[in-house]
Amino acid sequence: PKCIWLSRHGESIYNVEQKIGGDSSLSERGLKYASKLKSLIKENVKNNEQDLSVWTSTLTRTKETAQYLPYSKLEWKALDELDAGVCDGMTYEEIEEIYPEDFKARDEDKYEYRYRGGESYRDVVIRLEPVIMELERQENVLIITHQAVLRCIYAYFMNVPKEESPWVSIPLHTLIKLEPRAYGTKVTRIKANI
Ligand code: F6P
Repeated sequence: PKCIWLSRHGESIYNVEQKIGGDSSLSERGLKYASKLKSLIKENVKNNEQDLSVWTSTLTRTKETAQYLPYSKLEWKALDELDAGVCDGMTYEEIEEIYPEDFKARDEDKYEYRYRGGESYRDVVIRLEPVIMELERQENVLIITHQAVLRCIYAYFMNVPKEESPWVSIPLHTLIKLEPRAYGTKVTRIKANI
């Protein structure tokens, strides 16, 4: 019985400033989530799932979120957040002001829209292919990564249509447990109250 745990990194400084992308550290609240994660998993793990591997992106905020977990860890570049290209480090308001046409185009077709010098959701899905392949071979994995990347992984296991996938809600400080079954994937959402 395999189990895939998904989590965004804890709240980052950029999350607080409402900026996208970047490589900022966790905020104080984000660090609280990191310290709570160990017990949150322990409370929800079954005996046969003890053997957990933790996969993070190469970015500071996911590694900081994993720092207190007593499991083996692996960093994947393919788990880094969707590259916003020239918009990296901006707020959505700034993007709308500086690149109004791009902002509109993204809203109209978020799956296909590719940031100038960056990526689309489709691009992320393609680079995730080796991660998904390895995931299919593993038993129990906790993936700590980013909003857009998690939407793609979630959509893959839950059969969410690609046009809807960029809009799936993946809140901060919430563990998502996926248990793939013959008849469909069972989902449990566990909120960390911090
Ligand atoms: O705001 C956090 C974040 O992970 C950004 O770094 C990223 O660009 C964004 O979310 C992805 O979400 P959306 O595709 O809805 O803009």
